[in-house]
Amino acid sequence: MRDVAINGERQWARLMDLARLGAIPGDGVNRACLTALDREARRLVIGWATAIGATVTIDAAANLWLRREGSDPTAAPVLTGSHMDSQPAGGRFDGIYGVIAGLEAITALHDAGIVTRRPIEVVGWTNEEGSRFAPGCMGSMAWSGFAPLSTWDEVRDPEGIRFADALAEHLAVEADLPCRTLGSNKPHAYVEAHIEQGPLLEAAGDDIGIVTGIQGSRWFRVTLTGASAHAGTAPVKLRRDAVQDMVRAVAALNVLMDDPDDVLRFTVGRIVVEPNSSNSVAGRVTFSIDCRHPRRDVLLARGDAVAATIRAAVNDCDVAVEEVFHAMPVTFDPLVVEAVAASCAGYRSMRLASGAFHDAQFAAGVAPSGMIFVPSRDGISHNPAEYSSPAQLAAGTRVLARTLLALAS
Ligand code: HGY
Ligand code: MN
Ligand code: MN
Repeated sequence: MRDVAINGERQWARLMDLARLGAIPGDGVNRACLTALDREARRLVIGWATAIGATVTIDAAANLWLRREGSDPTAAPVLTGSHMDSQPAGGRFDGIYGVIAGLEAITALHDAGIVTRRPIEVVGWTNEEGSRFAPGCMGSMAWSGFAPLSTWDEVRDPEGIRFADALAEHLAVEADLPCRTLGSNKPHAYVEAHIEQGPLLEAAGDDIGIVTGIQGSRWFRVTLTGASAHAGTAPVKLRRDAVQDMVRAVAALNVLMDDPDDVLRFTVGRIVVEPNSSNSVAGRVTFSIDCRHPRRDVLLARGDAVAATIRAAVNDCDVAVEEVFHAMPVTFDPLVVEAVAASCAGYRSMRLASGAFHDAQFAAGVAPSGMIFVPSRDGISHNPAEYSSPAQLAAGTRVLARTLLALAS
């Protein structure tokens, strides 16, 4: 196992510089994809990458590529990285840590004058969070060929902006960056550093998570259409109240998704009520469903029953159910999992599966993939209180650098 000196202070300072872009109270970050803030963050990263001679390109999905050449430029690169966007009430580390860790690893190699045989590329994926534009992982799904980019042209953000328009605007603003063909430069392997976003590493007193795979996720968008009416004059028995029907639907979904072992994850996180006025009966409600499980058969069985369960539960509204995300569980390739495990010397480590989805879930369809986790304080994430210490983050990056060295030699 070859080692390289990671500069933890430099890494932390860069993360704090980035955390100022979209800073919200409580040390949080709100930096949605394909916004001016996202572009500011990308420009910071581009500056740091070009300073060490990395070449920068962008693809049609606006994924950002930082490439450090190897002695054999024809060899398939080793790929690392993560996403640049955050949740609306996100933390300073989710996603961006993996981009900065990858940048720190190639910077440390540069500082040490180490040239690997394979090129090493660091990617900043577009729209992993799926918050501004649902679903998540659009950049990695388009890159991996899991779904064509045009799939999401008509997806709108809360302000009504089309994904296709936001993407076109972003690419026009970033037109100074050289382009690369979407899906080109198929990697030899992919390894992503990320915060755990859960409590397991901290509870075990471990420094590093050797990630074995990612559970499956299915997202649905449900639209209940009734009729708005006067809150004072409309008799209740004549109403087609979309909020009341949503309550009935969610109650029925809670029964469908019940799991005494608390393994299945069912979340309704976004509700849009129209006309959203206290004295108008809701004519329409749109709500999100996020359903996750490590077993494919359970995920298929429960997810496939969503529409029928809702239709049986509602009284008065028309029902539309659209599946917007369908990511089956993945098990990472031993080539990468064992390369990570072999790079954990000097650290306490454990093997675990990821409850959160990641771009690695789609990279795994293109090349052997894996992930490295660092502990999250109190397991908190998707919350401004998200925290990992400089030392914890540096440990993860040191293991990443070792893993990249092993895979790229
Ligand atoms: O939702 C997820 O699992 C990821 O953190 N965006
Ligand atoms: Mn993430
Ligand atoms: Mn996230």
